[in-house]
Amino acid sequence: MRDNLIIGLDIGSSQVRAVAGRQNNGQLDIIATGKSNTSGYLLNGNIVNINKTSQAISDVISQIETVISGKNKDYYFSSNLSGSHINVFLYTSTKLRKNPNDAVTEKEILELNEEAKKAIAEKNPCVLHRLPIGFRVGSLPETMEPVGQIGDRIEGDFMVVTASLDKFELLKKALRAAESEHIKGGNLYFSPLATSSTILSSEEKQEGVVLVDIGSGTTEISIYLKKRLSHATVLNWGGDRITEDIQIGLDISPEHAEALKIRFGSALHKEIDMNEIVMIPGIAGRKPSPVSVKNLAIVIEERIKELAAIVLSEISKVTDPANLRGGIVLVGGGAQMPDIDELFQRTTDIDTRIGLPKADSTIASIAEEIKDPSFATAIGLVQVYFDQLNDVEEGDAPTTQEDQVSGPKNGGGSKPPGIKSIFNRMVDTLMGGSEDAGEYDA
Ligand SMILES: Nc1ncnc2c1ncn2[C@@H]1O[C@H](COP(=O)(O)OP(=O)(O)OP(=O)(O)O)[C@@H](O)[C@H]1O
Ligand SMILES: [Mg+2]
Repeated sequence: MRDNLIIGLDIGSSQVRAVAGRQNNGQLDIIATGKSNTSGYLLNGNIVNINKTSQAISDVISQIETVISGKNKDYYFSSNLSGSHINVFLYTSTKLRKNPNDAVTEKEILELNEEAKKAIAEKNPCVLHRLPIGFRVGSLPETMEPVGQIGDRIEGDFMVVTASLDKFELLKKALRAAESEHIKGGNLYFSPLATSSTILSSEEKQEGVVLVDIGSGTTEISIYLKKRLSHATVLNWGGDRITEDIQIGLDISPEHAEALKIRFGSALHKEIDMNEIVMIPGIAGRKPSPVSVKNLAIVIEERIKELAAIVLSEISKVTDPANLRGGIVLVGGGAQMPDIDELFQRTTDIDTRIGLPKADSTIASIAEEIKDPSFATAIGLVQVYFDQLNDVEEGDAPTTQEDQVSGPKNGGGSKPPGIKSIFNRMVDTLMGGSEDAGEYDA
């Protein structure tokens, strides 16, 4: 496992970002990165121009493949799916027991699991993940180890992540661009599950934490309590909405609004001097016009406050905000806005930090490049796949490696696997267990 190379491919609304990583003494070592613009090809995380998205994916994979050219070019592939079509919900499966005084067996748990899998699949054509989050036997407290307990019934709770089948099919089509003879296998994850694996510590997940990924067209909010994902939602807006506000509020072009936001933006207007002015070049020889940096910050602050309030209301759906001792963690390109953590903290009264991916590189320029919250998903995609493969190696997971990783099963033959075999079988990521997800024909 340790020598394996995994490419994490984050398909976002502004960029496709890829990183190639290896495990090195328990650390993730990033050996190559690549990116390609997708503005206008995806809208709020959804592919709207399949050809251009495919081209962007293809560009990024070529960038990476040039760097990893050498003896061992083969790699695994880990990509993401997001958008407001994703639905995350709790499903409980119950089974009455004939002999309540007999110890619960592993077989009973597997049966309960199979029944849940069938029932969920019947109602949902595209199940991405089905994460077991706890079992209850009779009136005993919830546990992840129900085998051996005694009681008249078993209940199993599963956190289910479903997607729109159409959107899933589109993504598969776009991914064909990445088809390569070097792919050994692949997986697909709901973005926040991947991101959390490199950003959140298990302590934070245990104590309760909210991960907020502020992208360009989406914001993903996912909440972890007692180590488990307990709620997630994808908003149809991100940093682009802030740019639009700046454009309208300050009456400037979208390009100038984006450039101003990135160079001079701040989430706290009070910190800025009234006299700080930036000159915006006029169009076609017209005079430059002045823009107040304080006004710029006022516009940004309003929009981010609104986002912080939405995050607070999402938290309130599942728990008292005071229970979140792990606080709020911000990632994504939008988390680079100066003072955004401070504004979140003031608005929600919850401790907030910026999340940086836990990875390094022996190449200095890459090490510097990936110290960036917008690399969280691409690196998380590599990490979550390694975690999954390692768990399988250690024998934690109930299925075999063959079941976990859909790769070529051609006995080392020369036939390339292709996307069809890669996505024929998808698996979910784990938090205390792993389950194979639904099967789809490419
Ligand atoms: N320094 C910065 N300050 C403020 N915002 C920034 C900065 N750098 C990038 N952004 C914003 O981050 C957003 C892009 O973030 P990111 O790259 O995470 O999005 P994405 O993954 O492509 O999109 P999505 O996840 O929504 O599909 C853009 O709105 C951009 O303006
Ligand atoms: Mg993103």
